[in-house]
Amino acid sequence: MSEWLECVSCARKYPISDVRYTCECGGLLAVRGPRSAVRREGFDERRSSRKTIDQSGVWRFREAVLDVDESQIVTHPEGNTRMYERDGILFKHEGENPTGSFKDRGMTVAMTQAVRVGARAVACASTGNTSASLAAYAAQAKLRAIVFVPTGKVAAGKLAQTLAYGALCLQVRGDFDAAMRLVLEASQRLGIYLVNSINPFRIEGQKTIVWELLQDLDWNPPDWIVVPAGNLGNTSAFGKALIEARDAGWISKMPRLAAIQACGANPFYRSFKEDFAKRHRISAETVASAIRIGDPVSYDKAVAALRATNGIVEEVTDDALMSAKRDIDRMGIGCEPASATTLAGVRKLRASGVIRKSERIVCVLTGHVLKDPEAILKNADPMVEIEPDISAVERILASGI
Ligand code: F0G
Repeated sequence: MSEWLECVSCARKYPISDVRYTCECGGLLAVRGPRSAVRREGFDERRSSRKTIDQSGVWRFREAVLDVDESQIVTHPEGNTRMYERDGILFKHEGENPTGSFKDRGMTVAMTQAVRVGARAVACASTGNTSASLAAYAAQAKLRAIVFVPTGKVAAGKLAQTLAYGALCLQVRGDFDAAMRLVLEASQRLGIYLVNSINPFRIEGQKTIVWELLQDLDWNPPDWIVVPAGNLGNTSAFGKALIEARDAGWISKMPRLAAIQACGANPFYRSFKEDFAKRHRISAETVASAIRIGDPVSYDKAVAALRATNGIVEEVTDDALMSAKRDIDRMGIGCEPASATTLAGVRKLRASGVIRKSERIVCVLTGHVLKDPEAILKNADPMVEIEPDISAVERILASGI
């Protein structure tokens, strides 16, 4: 048995081919395998290879992602996103993935597993990015795609993508958490393969965000990795990635994780403040629709990730995250609102002295600027309409606008 599923609560093991998302005890499942025997040098050599799976920023790390026959891999390819340095902070831009968000890194692995277990239909609940990614990868794998989205709560770019790639879009009258409960029930009753981040194969793919950013830095870890936190899949994946990187000897120092939530969608922050004595569930509201989530499914894994990395959770207001978004946009980088919680979080944590000025920081930008055009147009400077006449141009420029 080279890989298996293991409960993070009671350690019960299941075969890797089992279609199940939680343990008999209700705990979350993780993929386990012989990761610590893998050497990192092979990953570096693949960066100059022309083979499609080597060009994928996920499958380049395949020995530590999933033991699968190469012919079964469903890859665009994805990953290989850029890292930008601005004002002394590094930004790893996961919005540069094929469908414009980090979700593609998890989706390539979950879709590969869906094919491997013979699934006919795949489903997710989503605030928009998972659904866009699922729709694209299902189209490539020729599987039926069904997405559950909260009515009226998904940004236009994400909805348009999901429809364009041909998914059946079920608009659920309720919030994301209601859609999540419904898709869980649907996957259990109707035998549809679920690819939300409760699916442990998603987490295996998303680990590579961290490995690729470490590789970008020649395996010299930063002091902090800062990530937006919603359903907590990414926070969980980052923790697992760092533990495995340390255990395999790829890094000799553990960066600290900083998971950032919006104040109106902060159940994880509330638990952190109480040293995780209690799991909070709230009714969420924030301008950052991607992370408008009140009952995150990967809570237990995220707590473990925070503990293993001496991590912290911070919350930021909608005003602070939108102001950070404007600044990231004006750096010429651009991102969607949820991604900007990172910079807003860094500012708050620097002001409170938790992050020191000299420390090296990587902010992970999770989604592309075009995902949420309404959020831009609502806050942008007004446009100026003019006659097609040079004097009109001169007048406007002279007016100092
Ligand atoms: N940033 C973006 C752009 C997202 O789309 C999400 C989650 C997150 C951050 C939070 O990541 O859930 O792993 O903590 N979007 C999901 C979706 C919920 O349906 O697209 P997380």
